[in-house]
Amino acid sequence: MTTGEQQRYRFSEAPIWELQRSYYEQLGMQAWNNDQVPQYITSNPMIGTAYAEMILGFLQDRAARGETSEPVIILELGAGAGRLAFQTLQKLSELIEYAGIPLPPFKYVMSDLPLLNITGWQQHPRLIPFVEQGILDFARFDAVEDTELKLVHSGTVIRPGDLAQPLLVIANYFFDSIQQELLYVDEAKIFDCEVSLKYPEQADTMTTSEVLRDIVPEYHYVRAAAYEESDYPFQEVVSFYQHHLEDSHILFPAAALSCMERLNKLSREGFILLTADKGDHRLVNWEFLEPPKLMHHGSISLTANYHAMQYYFEQKGAQTLTTPHHYKNLNVVCMLMLKDPDAHVQTRLAYRRSVERFGPDDFFSMKVWIDNNYDSMGMQQMLAFWRLGGYDAELFIQSAERVSALLPDANEEELLDLQLGIQKMWDGYYPMPQKYDLALDTGLLLFEMDQYGESRRYLELSLAEGDEEPVVTVLYCLAICCYELEDDAGALEYTRQALVIEPEHEEALDLLNALSQG
Ligand SMILES: C[S@@+](CC[C@H](N)C(=O)[O-])C[C@H]1O[C@@H](n2cnc3c(N)ncnc32)[C@H](O)[C@@H]1O
Repeated sequence: MTTGEQQRYRFSEAPIWELQRSYYEQLGMQAWNNDQVPQYITSNPMIGTAYAEMILGFLQDRAARGETSEPVIILELGAGAGRLAFQTLQKLSELIEYAGIPLPPFKYVMSDLPLLNITGWQQHPRLIPFVEQGILDFARFDAVEDTELKLVHSGTVIRPGDLAQPLLVIANYFFDSIQQELLYVDEAKIFDCEVSLKYPEQADTMTTSEVLRDIVPEYHYVRAAAYEESDYPFQEVVSFYQHHLEDSHILFPAAALSCMERLNKLSREGFILLTADKGDHRLVNWEFLEPPKLMHHGSISLTANYHAMQYYFEQKGAQTLTTPHHYKNLNVVCMLMLKDPDAHVQTRLAYRRSVERFGPDDFFSMKVWIDNNYDSMGMQQMLAFWRLGGYDAELFIQSAERVSALLPDANEEELLDLQLGIQKMWDGYYPMPQKYDLALDTGLLLFEMDQYGESRRYLELSLAEGDEEPVVTVLYCLAICCYELEDDAGALEYTRQALVIEPEHEEALDLLNALSQG
């Protein structure tokens, strides 16, 4: 690795962005193994439901304008592990079926930079059915330069001017992950914050992620009048900062603006953008800012500048929906760069219901608290929160111990609701690169609920998927399930397997005895 320690770069051209691209391209879906790159907050069923509601609203708005024949393309940028796409598509399909109203057809296109991600999605068992239905396709799309979309399965190429419906773009944890300019504003003058990089001493032997973690940027201020010239494409936004900021560093999203401009050209009707990020749309958050810290989590990220995006596109007629309250971890923004944004009533109402009134950020704040307080929760609160979270597997995994402790006092209705939740959780379960034995937790809880048929199903699934030697408890539980289901041969087989692992297992010996006597 060349260290080039003394060299200065324009911030957007610094080698950190090449490292960032290599990180994603080398790892593919493994970047999300064990949450190296966090995804829960931007990809859980609750946010998927919010997006599905807004997409349904948008399809209704198009239908209300008589636009029911041309398809709406939903393009997700940097779709990563693919979990948001799955959650959104699943909820959207359910809503459309439930509503039973005439809507335009749609196609969801998951896109990303690494080809490895596309291969991963093509093989994912939860995505394949949507591809087969013709409502999901994939594309490699480099947001920094590409001008057209090549769909992998249909072979369709979407070029500028091709789309008769607005393009619906989804971008979560995306604009914080691509390059930005770093400007400094003082006394109505713009400076480029050039960066030089101090590499860690062992850089040559470190992984890309480790280098990104340990690299130290140093900033150097250079007068940059070119941003103030009328031929700079985003001069109007820069001019706004020139006159409204003082002694402030500003991350300027030139790459994001140019990406959205290129996407805007694909349709003759503009775009609608659903995006969620650590991203500030309020000017006050940019005032008197120090240089940014590179946030490291496998890759790196910075704050997304939603303020500049909003300012730039509103000058062109867009309407931006943001919450009047402040966000804590995730700002969910909807931008309607359409000919008549006001007329898209259902979309705007859906934003009010699904983001403004109570949205993904509120849900996440509650989850952070609840993660540490399961011990004081009762069954009804656990069920209510699980339902709010779309019966997410992660919530189940975290609460399984507490649910188990509450089982002896649970009433019949609560037990039925737990079973309903388990069924819905599995319907919406999207396996991720990291292995977690959800089937084991499910099977053991159902066993405690005396649901032997279902318990057996999940415990056998856990055995089939596990790479390690089975645990004696699982084999014993399976033996009991078979016994209760009057499958004596199965009970005998699992009892024998349990005794091979632990010959002195008392309950297994008793069961063997009972079965032998017959
Ligand atoms: C922090 S991850 C977010 C993934 C996902 N959207 C989520 O919320 O979990 C950033 C994503 O942007 C993608 N990405 C980075 N640079 C890109 C570029 N130039 N063009 C397209 N995608 C890019 C990465 O491959 C990765 O999937």
